Amino acid sequence: MNIDSKTKIYGLIGHPVGHSLSPLIHNTAFLDQKLNCIYDCFDVLPENIKDAVFGIKALGIMGVNVTVPYKEMVIPYLDFISDEAKLIGAVNTIKNNDGRLEGYNTDASGFIESLLEQGVEIKGKNVVILGAGGAARAIAVAFSLNDVNSITIANRTEGKAYNLYKYIIEKFRTECKYTSLDELIDFDNIDILINATSVGMFPNVNATPVDEKIIRKAKFIYDLIYNPKETLFLRYAKKYGIKNSNGLNMLINQANNSFKIWFGKNFNKNLIVNVLRKKEFIK
Ligand code: ATR
Repeated sequence: MNIDSKTKIYGLIGHPVGHSLSPLIHNTAFLDQKLNCIYDCFDVLPENIKDAVFGIKALGIMGVNVTVPYKEMVIPYLDFISDEAKLIGAVNTIKNNDGRLEGYNTDASGFIESLLEQGVEIKGKNVVILGAGGAARAIAVAFSLNDVNSITIANRTEGKAYNLYKYIIEKFRTECKYTSLDELIDFDNIDILINATSVGMFPNVNATPVDEKIIRKAKFIYDLIYNPKETLFLRYAKKYGIKNSNGLNMLINQANNSFKIWFGKNFNKNLIVNVLRKKEFIK
């Protein structure tokens, strides 16, 4: 990588950002496409988020991804928000378009693409989402935009499950329910079960958000977590012979969709998968 006075800067703003795979993904794509660009991480403290966003404009940073906990917080400081990002209520991609900061969300589309790539049908399906935070909301909106039959939101804090349920029924016609995690034991007919909680993430790798008795009922299991590659949730899926996915496919697709917003073209997904595999992020 030759950095010179013309090198354009891209990056990730969040807190923390230390374990992100986005620099590896985007810098690989920049090198591959011979783009004179560099992608770095910016660990921004909450009290500095407004200055950080204005800094994008002031310094001519060309684009950033936004991660936890700032996906909602950046919205008031942007000049344009895409319809999808408005619906999700969160921005994960900012493009600096000649000094005009545009906010997009590529999480939802990245998630749906990753299901389609794995041959999972979405239309008419009954899905259960574990969790009711930002990730769960993006997934719930993604499913609502793709004609699922029903969405059930199950969360440890029922009040938050209720809030997401309300959000979905107010914005969409999708059939939606909410429940506690334990009550899922009484649910049948789960086509797709998604873990959108942080349970099972490194270093607490021996935890699952729900009991294996619930996991074994699902026809397809998706864990948004990718570190570890195989959570206990996914190990149970494997034990019962249920098709499953970790969060890497979504991560790669959302990164590609951000790349497309910035450069108007795709990156080479196979190359990215191979690089991640070499680094042992993929089995
Ligand atoms: P994100 O933006 O990644 O979704 P978040 O908004 O902090 O992050 O949401 C984290 C989710 O994981 C929440 O649904 C949270 O449940 P609560 O609403 O009850 O906090 C869920 N979660 C985190 N730790 C959990 C645990 N130990 N057991 C069950 N759910 C947990």
